[in-house]
Amino acid sequence: MRYPHTRLRRMRRDEFSRRLMREHVLTADDLIYPVFVHEPDGRAPVGSMPGIERLSIDELLRVAEQACALRIPALALFPVTAPEAKSLDAAAAWADDGLVQRAVRALKQRFPQLGVITDVALDPYTAHGQDGLLDASGYVVNDETVEALVKQALSHARAGADVVAPSDMMDGRIGAIRQALEAEGHIHTRILAYSAKYASSFYGPFRDAVGSAGALGKGNKTTYQMDPANADEALREVALDLDEGADMVMVKPGLPYLDIVRRVKERFGAPTFVYQVSGEYAMLKAAAQNGWLDERACALEALVSIKRAGADGVLTYFALDAARWLREG
Ligand code: PBG
Repeated sequence: MRYPHTRLRRMRRDEFSRRLMREHVLTADDLIYPVFVHEPDGRAPVGSMPGIERLSIDELLRVAEQACALRIPALALFPVTAPEAKSLDAAAAWADDGLVQRAVRALKQRFPQLGVITDVALDPYTAHGQDGLLDASGYVVNDETVEALVKQALSHARAGADVVAPSDMMDGRIGAIRQALEAEGHIHTRILAYSAKYASSFYGPFRDAVGSAGALGKGNKTTYQMDPANADEALREVALDLDEGADMVMVKPGLPYLDIVRRVKERFGAPTFVYQVSGEYAMLKAAAQNGWLDERACALEALVSIKRAGADGVLTYFALDAARWLREG
């Protein structure tokens, strides 16, 4: 008798056995929702990110309420800074009454149980759109930028941020921020390090959303963000950030970098997060709007793939929708 020696299809035949052998499960616990906060009243749509809006602090509180109801553990805040608040020294980044600082206070007062993550980087505040301070030649200087990032991170911690997330890719910033947080008694403030952050063109819609695209112009971030061609270097970045005191590490973007996620998780076993970035969201949305892809099925597939690669959680613009879809089953 001829028969396939092994019939893997047996276990796939029925829903019950597919469920029993499912290796990875996506839940609302895995989701972090990135939100854009702006000064004007109300909401403003982001053209290249259908379904995503810039929010006033009042509107942010409404969205936070939805996130809490959906059991999403945390929000990540990204400010839209008015052009007149931008400068060469990025001083608005650590203003005690800055937009982010006020947003953090408002969120923590209303929803103390909701995790609040802040972005530590200067690009929303610099007139040139780079994540750091420039020298006369236009090079982003490392150590002076780290000093500014320390001030920014401290101002977020004072406002009550649960997690500060340096996304700038300067050398030594995690250690400097950790030391400053400890020195000021913020021993519970977590650091989510954007450790393996690539110089990716998938950030385009985000730069539209926060208005840094115009400031950056034809500039790029290749002298500090990583080369998409590199993998071993990502492991060195993660090793340094963990050694300097990061509680969580991140790989960014998501889908094109799942090999990095796998290697980081396997090598270090640390809490590992992925940023499914604006361009990944925009691609899925655009295809879905054209009727070319099933949005819900593809978004959930991408998210569970990120978990399968080794991530503990995902920053995703689909967070609210995904939590709803998962609830609907
Ligand atoms: C800036 C920052 C960027 C993103 C998060 N923080 C853009 C950049 O580095 O230029 C991108 C996120 C996204 O594309 O969704 N520090």
